Amino acid sequence: MKNAIYLLFPYPVMVCAKNYEFSSAEKNYICELEMANNTGNLMSKNDKILDSKELSDLKLFIDEQILIFKKNLLGIKDANEIYITQSWVNRSKPGEFHPKHKHPNSVISGVMFFDENKDGSLPPIRFHRTLEMFPLEFEFDNLNESNAGCRSFETVQGGLILFPSLLEHDVAKNESDRVRTSISFNTYVRGAVGSGRKLTEINIA
Ligand SMILES: [Fe+2]
Repeated sequence: MKNAIYLLFPYPVMVCAKNYEFSSAEKNYICELEMANNTGNLMSKNDKILDSKELSDLKLFIDEQILIFKKNLLGIKDANEIYITQSWVNRSKPGEFHPKHKHPNSVISGVMFFDENKDGSLPPIRFHRTLEMFPLEFEFDNLNESNAGCRSFETVQGGLILFPSLLEHDVAKNESDRVRTSISFNTYVRGAVGSGRKLTEINIA
């Protein structure tokens, strides 16, 4: 008989089944965005890029995937709408990186990879365990879902990953000779949350 293993209270990360195909107009718009310095890399000065008419098809695609994550995976009730707040472009030139961070004041965040990466030379995004399991740094014979403190996802053009915004992530130093570009966004919620009887009710407009 096999032992039953339960991975309790996971942080769900969704790699969308379909990769988005950027039109040449969208590629041009993204490539021509004005960039500003960020810690370790660059980010677009525009922090509402998905509100632009040039990226309206991309926003539709992302909104659809957010709805799948919210409704089918998390089962959050229809009364709560999850909508995109800020959206921006990150750019790591060779030698640059994206330090470990999370996205406060957001519910679900996402990242979409922009570049072709057939040779796999662009660094992956890495998610990190939020709560340490033990107060000791064990060495493991092999890594699996039970013991890993870090999980990488390869950069695939048009690939979209959705995750709870408080899940920490980073991107290692770009060791390739190409620029790594990604699109990120945050979301928030509208509608009533909590319960009047429990004195936890809040109505978020
Ligand atoms: Fe991020």
